[in-house]
Amino acid sequence: MERPSQFREHYKESKYLSCAEVLTGRDFTEYLDALKISSDKLVSPVLDLGSGKDEIFARGAADLGIKVISVSPHLLNKKLREERISDSCNHKSDNENPPAFSALAGELPLKNDSIKTIVSVYSIPTKLPPDYDVFRRVFSEIARVLAPNGHGYFFPFRVTREPGYKSALEVYSGALPWRIDSLDKIFADLGLEYQLNPISDRETYTTNLIITKK
Ligand SMILES: C[S@@+](CC[C@H](N)C(=O)[O-])C[C@H]1O[C@@H](n2cnc3c(N)ncnc32)[C@H](O)[C@@H]1O
Repeated sequence: MERPSQFREHYKESKYLSCAEVLTGRDFTEYLDALKISSDKLVSPVLDLGSGKDEIFARGAADLGIKVISVSPHLLNKKLREERISDSCNHKSDNENPPAFSALAGELPLKNDSIKTIVSVYSIPTKLPPDYDVFRRVFSEIARVLAPNGHGYFFPFRVTREPGYKSALEVYSGALPWRIDSLDKIFADLGLEYQLNPISDRETYTTNLIITKK
């Protein structure tokens, strides 16, 4: 079994990975609750960006006949991958898109326009370093692999229109919010429409992000 230190060694040169050691295992229902969507939005193939090593969302989706491709840097571990594939048995690997693999969101080994739906819960862009070049790179990969009219659902997403909020949020939540004016340009350049749904009236800076590829 590969040790965490070896894992970090492998990816230490990559600036697209941050905080990947913290793993959670939300199930299918918890994903839908977080993303505020119903299962009919999950048009196959679905890419779970930052799945966690156990691919729990993919297993729940498989029960409904939804094909999920899981991506998480932790799936680098070959033995772990083999175990997951053999006991998931709901998935059959095809040659074009394996059901799960290790990758970073900024470097996706998937074909152009090959994914109909992307989901990411507490992963992208939450775990990205606060760097707009990284954000652009990651969302350009997302735009590349997403099929036209495909959707991406992300939670949580922290945004601000007020520079003054930035320091307050950093102090209280430790999370850097993204400036909406910068994102407008990035999404427009990438041909992505986007929609933000605040999670409550009071906490308007934490939202769900929905993107649509034009
Ligand atoms: C907090 S866990 C969330 C796991 C799962 N989505 C859930 O909600 O239970 C964050 C996940 O994002 C992955 N991750 C972090 N940075 C990533 C990146 N740059 N590209 C792809 N996955 C990343 C981590 O490896 C981990 O699987």
